[in-house]
Formats: sequence, structure tokens, C-alpha cells
Amino acid sequence: MVVAETYEQARHAARLVQVRYDAEKPLADFDANVPNARKPPKINSGREPDFLKGNIDQGLKAADVTLAVTYETPMEHHHALEPHTTIAVWATDRLTLYDSSQMVDNSKTAIAALFGLPKENVRVIARYIGGGFGGKLKMGGQAILATMASRQLNRPVKIAITRQMAQTNAGFRQMNRQHLRLGATKDGALTALVHETVTHTAADQLFVEQAGVMSQMMYNVPNILTTHRVFPLHTQVPCPARAPGEAPGSFALESAMDELAHQLSMDPMAFRIHNEPATNPGTGKPWSSRSLVPAMRIGAEAFGWNQRRQQPRASRQGNWLVGYGMAAASRAALMRDTSARVTLTRENRTVSAVIEMGATDIGTGSYTIIAQTAADHLGLPISRIRVTIGDSDLPATPGSGGSWGAASYANAVVAVCTNALTELRQKVSRPAPASATVADLMTAARLTLYQTQVTDKPPAERENYASYSFGAHFCEAWVDEQLGIVQVKRVVTAAAAGRILNPKTASSQVIGAVVWGAGMALTEESLLDPRYGNFTTRTLTDYHVPVQLDIGTIDVIFVPDEDKVVNRLGIKGVGEMPITGLAAAIANAVFNATGKRIRRLPITPDKLL
Ligand code: MOS
Repeated sequence: MVVAETYEQARHAARLVQVRYDAEKPLADFDANVPNARKPPKINSGREPDFLKGNIDQGLKAADVTLAVTYETPMEHHHALEPHTTIAVWATDRLTLYDSSQMVDNSKTAIAALFGLPKENVRVIARYIGGGFGGKLKMGGQAILATMASRQLNRPVKIAITRQMAQTNAGFRQMNRQHLRLGATKDGALTALVHETVTHTAADQLFVEQAGVMSQMMYNVPNILTTHRVFPLHTQVPCPARAPGEAPGSFALESAMDELAHQLSMDPMAFRIHNEPATNPGTGKPWSSRSLVPAMRIGAEAFGWNQRRQQPRASRQGNWLVGYGMAAASRAALMRDTSARVTLTRENRTVSAVIEMGATDIGTGSYTIIAQTAADHLGLPISRIRVTIGDSDLPATPGSGGSWGAASYANAVVAVCTNALTELRQKVSRPAPASATVADLMTAARLTLYQTQVTDKPPAERENYASYSFGAHFCEAWVDEQLGIVQVKRVVTAAAAGRILNPKTASSQVIGAVVWGAGMALTEESLLDPRYGNFTTRTLTDYHVPVQLDIGTIDVIFVPDEDKVVNRLGIKGVGEMPITGLAAAIANAVFNATGKRIRRLPITPDKLL
């Protein structure tokens, strides 16, 4: 790292640094290193690497139709528009970091531990984040370097790593090779499902995304095996990327379901409905709510699924073969302990509220849903609510990740607002009528200022249930027979994700996930040079993300999904669920158009010709 007065000077000086090193042969080739794959002690979030239910051999023996295929998803990078950025400011023994972080509390804890500082001497501020997608969950390396430089120089230091640098100096999604074996009876009942994943990690650090987890809970299968194996490569450690595990895992599972439905000559949606489980097949727990079948039916109706031809290559527009594909989507509905503070101020009969919490907004609309939830529960107009987030000095939250932001933040806001009203009632000398407003209560209690704070926890009864968001994607893809180009003409996504707080911000999340899924399906791939162990795709010129012209129409439908268990507001989260299944829906549409089954993403013209 080079520090200079200006960014340009620093970039120039960094290029003058002479680096000497001994060259060794890197571990950088996926295929060559597969034989080194081992069972890891744990996979992402402390999950077990293996899962077994029933007896696979018996399950496959009971099948009339079987499928044994391998799917591959490539390495990918997050490519947030905002780079990984930190400004470090030391003031005597207090450190302030302006950091592009999805989780300000994580960054605070990590930096305090690393520099031996008391946690209260570290403050991390992230008011707005220009995209995270899992790449900014962990504190970035640039935060450590900025902290060191600022301490040495005794002045603020800013680092914004370039897009080229982000390919190696920040995390990425690992490549997954997934072997699937499925069996079904001829009437379409699944008898066995095996989902075995091989992937890679860094030589010195373990990260394995949970590619097999959806196969444990999606369908009513008596015999299920999922495994994860991993070998080291000389890269930085991979990290979560939007819907870690389920995004690549659902490409395999939902493609395999389509393949098996085709073998059975069944409609792929009817095949899924036929295997709808009454309880979570992996754990036996009841669903807190599961509205996948309604989502499929509502989505199919809106899409016009009944126009689909079962036989591939049956529909054509000039040079273009037209295909319909569908897939199911799911992700766990999570929630974490979350604190919030409300400060009420009264001027005569006018009350204003400030909500403060260490939450983040990674472009998801956290500010909006926090404000509207507070307005609803305080009975105040939204113009009287101010939301202050993105600061680790504020009451702690789990930050934005794992699609738990909306559930965690909004429930904590309800808890703190309810608390405030209850406490104000207790401060009034005579019992206030049920209709008393917050202004009535503060006036009666002769208060012009009132503040209270809570820590809200997920309800204990959640433990007894399986809670997931579900969705169904329907896709129309056109494939140019001569050029091998795929166009995603239309996507209809029906989402069953509990209560939707704000249809605009939630739709925007779903649309973003669908666009991510289209990129995953058709263009995105990070290429690691096996000779030098370095990524060759380092800019948006080499790494293709979808642009406007790549995306046709996307219709988002929210399906009624009342969940009384998952949390008091019944929120399940929509940030990640809709990217699951999307790549499979496109691949399935491509198969329906062309009769070609592409099992390695992205579906580029070379694979279709
Ligand atoms: Mo998400 S991959 O937990 O930001």
C-alpha cells in the first residue's frame, strides 16, 4: 500500500514499487485439484457438510426412472458498483471508520480485536452502501490497511480499491461441481435425491457455500443425501454471494427436476406439485407457512404457462426458437436479535420521532421500511419520523445479510414503538383512553422528550417450525439457432415471502435478483488463469453483467402468505430467494426451445452451437 496526498499520486507510486518473489507453481486448476477434495469440518454458518435421510440405494432401486448428471457453476464476483472503500480517522485513542460495510457491528468487533482496542473506542459508519451482495459482510482488507496508515501518519486515510483489485483483494463465489442422482416412480413420486458438491477454498482459510441445502427441504423425498467436499486453491478465500449455496445449488436441483419431468413426460410444474411435502422432509418440522404451490399456480396463470409445448423445438419465430421454462425458489426466512431506540419530542401537540439503530441500507430500502413501520406503530405521519442508521455507536443490529434485514429491523421498530407507548401510558396519572395518541400521552404526562430502547429477539416457537420464503419463476427464452444467442424475453416471478412491508422496495429486490439470475445463467463467469493463479476477468468489459438490453420484461407478483410464527409481523425476506431457481428457469426454457440441456453455466453461444 502506498499513501500519498492524492489518489492519482498514490496509484502512480504504487506502480513504481518493485516486487520480488520466488515463483512457485500455483494450485489454480479446478479439475487437477479435485482429487484433493476432503470433507470439511463445517460448511457456511456452521452447518454439517453431510446430510443423510433414509437409504439411497433402496430409494434408487425403487425408482422406475433415474437421472445421474453433473452441473457446474463457475466462480463469480459480486461487482458492486461501489468499490470496497474505507476512510480511517484516528483521534487520540479513538478510531472512526467510514466503511462500505453490510454489518457495522462486525467491522467494529473485528477491527477492535485486530488492533487490541476496546470496542467502545471504535466507531464504524456506513450511511449508504452502493451494493454489498455478501461481498461486504466481513470487514474488508482495505479497512485494516487504512487503519494502520492513519495511525502511522496521524491523519485520515482513504482507500477505495479498484474494480481490478477487487477480483483478488475481496471475496468471490466459488465454483461448484454438483453431482445429482434422482429417482422417481413412473407416476412421478420422487424416491431418492442425491446432491454431492465439490468445491474449492483458499489454502489457508475454509469457506464452503451450502449448495446442497435446498435439496434437503424442497421436495417430498424419502431418501436424501447431500454432501460437500472441498480442496484448496491458491486464491483469496471465497465468501458469501447473494443466496450463498442456494443460488448454485438450485441451478442443479431445479434443472434436474426439469430433466426428470421430461423423462417422465410430465409437466415440470405438475411434477413439483406432485412432490410437495407436508412437512420439512429434512427435519420433519411443520412449515410455519409454505405457499409454493399457490405461487406456482398464480405465476403460471399470469405467465400463460398452459401455452407451453411439452416437446422441445416446437415453437419458432423466424431464426429464433422459443421456449418456456419454470423453476421453484426458496431461501430460509431468518431473523436475528436487533436493538432499536426511539426518541420522541413534543412541541405543543406535534410529536416527532427519531429511530436509531445500527442497521444498514445496502440499496434495499431499509430507511424506508424502518420509517413507515415506525409511523404506523406510533400513529404519526411519516414526515414526522427521522431514521438514523449505519453507525456502530447506535443500538446493535445484525446488519444486512442473509435476507434477515427487513424482518429483524421492522420487528425491532415495532417492539420499541410499542414499548414507548406502553411506558408513556404508565407515566400518565389517570388511565388514558384506548384511543389516546402519542401526543395525548406525552401531553398528559407533561413530557416534551421521551426516549426508550429495546432488544428484540426472534420468537422462541420458531425453533419448532421450518420457515422459508418461496417463489416460482416462469421464463420465456428465445434462442437464435444460427448464432446461439439467448434472449430472456419475459420472466414472471411469484413470491410468497410472508408480509410485504413495501411493494415498491420489495419488487425492486425481486427484480434485482432476477437480473442477477439472468447474469448467472447467461454471462457471468470469473476465469482463474491456471498458469498464474490470477483472475483474467478483472473489469466489466471481461465480466459481463446484464444491461438493460439483455433483460426483457420482469413481472413480480406477491402471493398471499400469512405466517403467524416466523415473527410478529410475519416477514420472511425477499433479498435472496428470487435469485434461487432463476438460472434453472432460464436453462429449462433454453432446453424447451432447443432440446439442448446446458449443465454448465453460463449458457454462452459456444455451448449451444
Ligand atoms: Mo448476503 S450473501 O448474506 O449479503
